[in-house]
Amino acid sequence: MIDHRRVSMVVNGQPVERDVETRRLLVDFLREDLGLLGVHIGCEHGICGTCTVLMNGETIRSCITFAVQADGQEIMTVEALNQGGKLHPLQEAFWEQQGLQCGYCTPAMMLRALEILRETPNPTREAVREGLASQLCRCTGYQFIVDAVMNAAQRLQRGTTGAPSGTEAEGMREQPAEAAAGPPRGGHRARGEAPAEHAIPMGQPPGQPRGQSEHGPDLDAVATHVATAMPQEDEIQRMEREGRDLGTITAHPPIEEERTS
Ligand code: FES
Ligand code: FES
Repeated sequence: MIDHRRVSMVVNGQPVERDVETRRLLVDFLREDLGLLGVHIGCEHGICGTCTVLMNGETIRSCITFAVQADGQEIMTVEALNQGGKLHPLQEAFWEQQGLQCGYCTPAMMLRALEILRETPNPTREAVREGLASQLCRCTGYQFIVDAVMNAAQRLQRGTTGAPSGTEAEGMREQPAEAAAGPPRGGHRARGEAPAEHAIPMGQPPGQPRGQSEHGPDLDAVATHVATAMPQEDEIQRMEREGRDLGTITAHPPIEEERTS
């Protein structure tokens, strides 16, 4: 016989009461029962951090937490970040700094960043890197994510000292329709670019020069991004001279050669 239990909790500020199977995972409860699809699922083993939500203000892995364990607790998902249709400074910073590529890790990344910035409002880059070590991102190399968190720290600090500056006020502008349900979803758009109806389609490379609104991939930006993510021939030679075990690492072909091949 399947065991059920009545649970009540506060999710994103709203009281929720449901009958759940005692073995139901919190991630499934949030996604399937409450429709909070900003909670993503990755490894389902508590490793990758993709399913991270806040319980009573602290990050937890919702894939290894039962819904009944959240009984009586307060849960926050990424959907609660924006308030009254305005992007949260963290969302704005991730958007502006292009702190995402596919966006799959982004909801969890932002919730972990929120926790970091609550604990350490003015962190060093090293502290941010260390703090984000619990969250795996398969795409970005983390550089822009750290940029985004540092940027968000500045925005949040300005926000605590009074009215937002002109830049910050602009940053809290009305969000476009496609972002209303949560974080940016890979369609990178820099300040001053086309509004939602002309938004750059998903799949735009992360290295797209800011301020441009060209549709389709920018090959220069793609090449630059790939080249900085993979070692060039001289780096491989240097690592070999240092006697490092390169495993399956190979050099990225020269950019020009790749384009003409
Ligand atoms: S999906 Fe929960 S930690 Fe990976
Ligand atoms: S997994 Fe982090 S942006 Fe794709």
